[in-house]
Amino acid sequence: MCGIFAYLNYNVSRERRYILEVLFNGLRRLEYRGYDSSGIALDADRPASSSSASPPDAPYAGAPPLVFRQEGKIENLVRSVYSEVDEKDVNLDAAFNVHAGIAHTRWATHGVPAPRNSHPQSSGASDEFLVVHNGIITNYEVLKETLTRHGFTFESDTDTEVIPKLAKFVFDKSHDEEGDVTFSQVVMEVMRQLEGAYALIFKSPHYPNELIACKRGSTLILGVNELSGQQNGKPFHDVKALTTNGKPKELFFSSDLCAIVEHTKNYLALEDNEIVHIKDGSVSILKFDPHKEKPASVQRALSVLEMEVEQIKKGSYDHFMQKEIHEQPHSLTTTMRGRLKDGEVLLGGLKEHLKTIRRCRRVVFIGCGTSYNAALGARTFVEELTGIPVTMEVASDLLDRQGPIYREDTAVFVSQSGETADTLLALDYALENGALCVGITNTVGSTLSRKTHCGVHINAGCEIGVASTKAYTSQIVAMAMMALAIGSDQISTQARRNAIISGLTSLPSCVSEVLKLDAEMKELASSLIDSESLLVFGRGYNYATALEGALKVKEVALMHSEGMLAGEMKHGPLALVDENLPIIVIATRDACFSKQQSVIQQLLSRKGRLIVMCSKGDASAVCSIGSCRVIEVPGVADCLQPVINIIPLQLLAYHLTVLRGFDVDQPRNLAKSVTTQ
Ligand code: AGP
Ligand code: GLU
Repeated sequence: MCGIFAYLNYNVSRERRYILEVLFNGLRRLEYRGYDSSGIALDADRPASSSSASPPDAPYAGAPPLVFRQEGKIENLVRSVYSEVDEKDVNLDAAFNVHAGIAHTRWATHGVPAPRNSHPQSSGASDEFLVVHNGIITNYEVLKETLTRHGFTFESDTDTEVIPKLAKFVFDKSHDEEGDVTFSQVVMEVMRQLEGAYALIFKSPHYPNELIACKRGSTLILGVNELSGQQNGKPFHDVKALTTNGKPKELFFSSDLCAIVEHTKNYLALEDNEIVHIKDGSVSILKFDPHKEKPASVQRALSVLEMEVEQIKKGSYDHFMQKEIHEQPHSLTTTMRGRLKDGEVLLGGLKEHLKTIRRCRRVVFIGCGTSYNAALGARTFVEELTGIPVTMEVASDLLDRQGPIYREDTAVFVSQSGETADTLLALDYALENGALCVGITNTVGSTLSRKTHCGVHINAGCEIGVASTKAYTSQIVAMAMMALAIGSDQISTQARRNAIISGLTSLPSCVSEVLKLDAEMKELASSLIDSESLLVFGRGYNYATALEGALKVKEVALMHSEGMLAGEMKHGPLALVDENLPIIVIATRDACFSKQQSVIQQLLSRKGRLIVMCSKGDASAVCSIGSCRVIEVPGVADCLQPVINIIPLQLLAYHLTVLRGFDVDQPRNLAKSVTTQ
């Protein structure tokens, strides 16, 4: 996935330098989504000689925009833009009363990271149409062939390049045949030809001061900051404010809310097939229907963003991953806020469907990566508290196998972003098969939350580090509350439910306590810095902890690591054990404790290099002094223990990454959410 961003100021004077910084900052906020290359496009100056009726500060219709593209991280782009504007004598102090700028940070799907493959992609010489794109155009090869036959020459290896070229083709043709054609007519004709998933922003010198955005699949947000009178910066709901001409305002498009929260709280999440056209400072929304000649115009109200700017800033931390790990006492509190009352669990998003879920034949958990691991961590207590059998599905594998999903199933989709392609395709598949679909996501307004029948928002706050940390613990807690709500009609488990509810209440303070292991984990990391591999053994509730701890280590510290089911040790992995390979064994108190004690003994008798995680006070019960290193963690209700146990492993992965000198928040080859199959 990548990040797209646009900024249009209307009837408010902004210097080019300011506009540049707004675009760069937008990209910085979105950089976690993709960071192999980036680019921007700005308006050109009006030539000094041109006389015209248009206002002096408007961009010159027809003048090619200024386009900058660079490989690597955003700061590379920033440096190269400033040195290029210097070289070319571009006036950064030039003020624009109206200006439309677009920007892109890329996670390549087609074509290596290189300036020519970066966005904005162009229609050709003079940049008559420029496009930034998030997604994949699946029929780009056919379109490319057709356009090449019509004389277009392609410069990039991207799928995206067909879009601006198609726009120029449509524009030229319509212009020759019918005379004037509007920007939205051009974009609509382009949409008619495109297959695949996309969020797009178009800019063209044929339509100065206008921007068009549209989407099918990928998320796109419109932010509106009305600068006049009482509305200045304040939330407003009046849909007319979108269409009132003349009023000074700033308009933003962004792939997510993180990049607009510092500018405005008024936003609108575009629906699939909507086209947003900004012209003369006015916003019109059209609904594209491939079968209809004329699009319907749509009235949409703005929503008010419930997010604070602090959420998207690192504050006193060095990295987002570090901040998000340490934020967990707070994020867990917000996950539970208002949902635990008088020993009852209230989940508004599930209430209407609890009866159906109780009657279902099985619960199928579906997710990818960390979200899958969180569901695996929840599986045991969901079975225990609801009595419903639970099966686990990695989303891509379910699709590969076209595994059976039935009308009588409850399919629970877990995803931090709510935009992971495999998870969403599995959701479509489950919907087609008639299952009740439940979403567990952190992202309000995401595709997952819109397409599922019901669900729970985990409310963990914006997660920016590519490695998922606070979302994992909040997902487990959200699923614990879901299990409690489904099982709330069972008298036999009342005492157990009460114990878990009281465990949930004290969880944030236990998390604060386990975070005190930070220095110890840093020290452990420094002793593992040169290891080639790290194994993590867990079982029962903590099999998921082993998988998730190992995923964190491999994903950010770039060290080979495997999470293993301790019960499987004797069936193969034991052959790896020697005095050099570090092995973490999770042996906190639960029904599997004595089995883990025996695993530890077997590993020690093969001279294993052990690090044992145990409950406070259990050090001597898990291994004799000196034979292994011990991490003691606070004890909570057994089924909530995975929330505590993962935290030292998150800290370990974080410190290993820093000590090994790798990028913590943007690990090699990854992006925050994987919106392509
Ligand atoms: C987590 O650290 C990973 N970056 C990755 O496994 C992630 O959890 C996975 O891609 C699923 O993302 P989602 O939760 O947004 O669906
Ligand atoms: N498919 C486009 C490209 O490779 C956009 C990728 C993205 O969404 O990150 O350039």
